[in-house]
Amino acid sequence: MQRIVVLNPKGGSGKTTIATNLAACFALRGRFPALLDLDPQASSTRWLRKRPPDAARIHGIAGYERSTSVTRSWQLRVPPECERLIVDTPAAIESRHMPELTRGADALLVPVMPSEIDIQAAAKCIADLLLVAKIRRADGRLGVIANRVRTNTRVAQSLLRFLESLDIPLVATFRDSQGYIRSAETGLGLLELKGPGATADGYAWDRLLAWLDARPPVLPSARVGVVSPLKATT
Ligand SMILES: Nc1ncnc2c1ncn2[C@@H]1O[C@H](COP(=O)(O)OP(=O)(O)OP(=O)(O)O)[C@@H](O)[C@H]1O
Ligand SMILES: [Mg+2]
Repeated sequence: MQRIVVLNPKGGSGKTTIATNLAACFALRGRFPALLDLDPQASSTRWLRKRPPDAARIHGIAGYERSTSVTRSWQLRVPPECERLIVDTPAAIESRHMPELTRGADALLVPVMPSEIDIQAAAKCIADLLLVAKIRRADGRLGVIANRVRTNTRVAQSLLRFLESLDIPLVATFRDSQGYIRSAETGLGLLELKGPGATADGYAWDRLLAWLDARPPVLPSARVGVVSPLKATT
């Protein structure tokens, strides 16, 4: 099972949008995904509750909940038939929690929006991933996503220049689109909505899925399925 963590401590950068749409993409392709929501705001969990019963199946795990009656690893268990685990993380994660949050992840996706504040926050997030969580560029696990991009704006150009300077791959560029707002409201992925936005961003999602499919597994297969306690949100 491939484990994909979507993170950026900057609020509103698109973590939940990417995590939920990624889950929908995998579900559409028959790669039964689990969506682990570590955010007490529960946005991914609410999205999943809205999902129509006839839509392709996604297994939800409300990882932000605390239970005294079961162990943490039991609460976070992933069904063995799941092929992908997507982890949606909260805003304002502190640097010291980065190692735990990223442990065992096969891919780490950092969504960044085109604004000066978001670019500064992304620079700090990436520095923490490299220096505190000790993610090595050479492992090829880390990818940046440019989110809510309006092409040809000055700030979009400066985001693209910043991303080029990082020497970390830009693995997708998603447009600023009403389709993602509808996706959040309906429990469906953009590609499942089949509107004009789906066609325009379809290529970007294909590219992201191809990049993810090419990531080598980090954990030996014996440990696959075991999620670390992820105390980062406590
Ligand atoms: N590409 C996009 N086009 C249009 N709207 C978008 C796009 N990406 C995200 N949004 C909207 O921006 C808002 C914030 O996105 P989202 O909730 O995914 O961010 P987040 O990083 O998960 O936020 P938080 O840090 O609060 O968890 C949401 O209303 C979402 O629908
Ligand atoms: Mg969120």
